[in-house]
Amino acid sequence: MHKGLFITLEGVDGVGKTTQALLLKEHLEKQGHQVLHTFEPGGTRLGSQMRALLLNPEHKDLHSVAEILLYAADRAQHVYEVVRPALAAGKTVICERFVDSSVAYQGYGLGLDIEGIKQVNHWATGGLIPDLTIYFDADPAESLVKTKGDRIEQRTLDYYAKVKEGFLAIAHAEPQRFKVISAQGTREEVASRVLEALEGRGQ
Ligand code: TMP
Repeated sequence: MHKGLFITLEGVDGVGKTTQALLLKEHLEKQGHQVLHTFEPGGTRLGSQMRALLLNPEHKDLHSVAEILLYAADRAQHVYEVVRPALAAGKTVICERFVDSSVAYQGYGLGLDIEGIKQVNHWATGGLIPDLTIYFDADPAESLVKTKGDRIEQRTLDYYAKVKEGFLAIAHAEPQRFKVISAQGTREEVASRVLEALEGRGQ
């Protein structure tokens, strides 16, 4: 069977990825596609426990290397349990966050070894790369207002400026895969930008 399309959505916290994922799913289903909407961290039963560990603000002692590996462990479980089987069954997979989040948040944000993070994640995913990544660009100072302040969201605006810089560096390095769209405007306006980014990707 034809392998499905793997689409990932990226952006800083509070940017509206979930709303857009649901609108995109609805649109693609109307066109007759079978679509799976999922997310990281926490897209599996075991992953939801890893998510709880990662985001609990009480875990101030979580080492940054452990943080990278926990995100990668969550991803490995998710890829092998959910994403790869869905793609193999011909489904389109819309996944909120993937390896790019680790590169941006842990690599650029925390200033850790970006190549190392890429290698660990290459191994964790068996080399799975999205066909298309849509990055919702926003000013972190504005989007963070909409968040609840979990362990990551409690980090400073300086941290988030580096995360954003990381995402934009990925866009610069991989313009074919990684499309930047503005997260400004109504949800319908943003949704139409998502569809523009999707044009010519076999949908
Ligand atoms: P979410 O709020 O989009 O569900 O993501 C949870 C948080 O985890 C969010 O602050 C981004 C962060 N994150 C990383 O730092 N690295 C990663 O690899 C992923 C997937 C998420």
